[in-house]
Amino acid sequence: RAAPPELQEKTLVLVKPDAVQRRLVGHVIQRFERRGFKLVAMKLLQVALPTQLPPPPLRVPCSRCHAECWEGGAKGGHPLGVPTVTLRCHQADRGLLDKHYQQLQQKPFYPALLAYMTSGPLVAMVWEGYNVVRSTRAMVGDTNSATAAAGTIRGDFSMHVSRNVVHASDSVETAQREIGFWFQRDELVAWESGDRDYTY
Ligand code: PPS
Repeated sequence: RAAPPELQEKTLVLVKPDAVQRRLVGHVIQRFERRGFKLVAMKLLQVALPTQLPPPPLRVPCSRCHAECWEGGAKGGHPLGVPTVTLRCHQADRGLLDKHYQQLQQKPFYPALLAYMTSGPLVAMVWEGYNVVRSTRAMVGDTNSATAAAGTIRGDFSMHVSRNVVHASDSVETAQREIGFWFQRDELVAWESGDRDYTY
């Protein structure tokens, strides 16, 4: 049984490279989960400029033994035989950012924005729920960190517009377009939470 259409509104959230570096990914996710929104897609992604060497493959140490038991590693699997979970870092070129920030390409800060957004991996997510686009913009706060209200993500974690932690789509139409830039259709997972009445 599919959720009613008003519960299927979706928005794109990017946890930008500064926030990944600062280990804020879980914190951002927690805010959306607590609000009741549903995570329907997520990936770690490195956008590289052509002048940059391809980033090294991301290798995640095993959470149980903290050893080099990653898939394909020297030991070829967990020493205790526990399946290894690998985190794949997707790759993209700047064309993705040029599409995403199409309206900004002539702005004087665009080269700096590109450098920032390619400075390390970012996390792209799609959140779903009632009025998720508007609610997410409110939770994220003003673009300019100086005027972002305390309690919003930017108001709590960002000091400057050029390092403002997250991106969120500004309308339902923009969200549909942006989700299409960052995700293939089959990367979105439709799942039933079972507690729909409590999150509505
Ligand atoms: S908004 O929220 O889309 O209405 O904001 P806007 O002012 O149009 O800004 C669009 C994005 O540009 C980023 N931005 C900047 N980056 C670097 N340096 C400077 N000076 C700067 N000013 C604006 C801003 O963070 C917005 O990025 P996203 O990813 O959309 O939040």
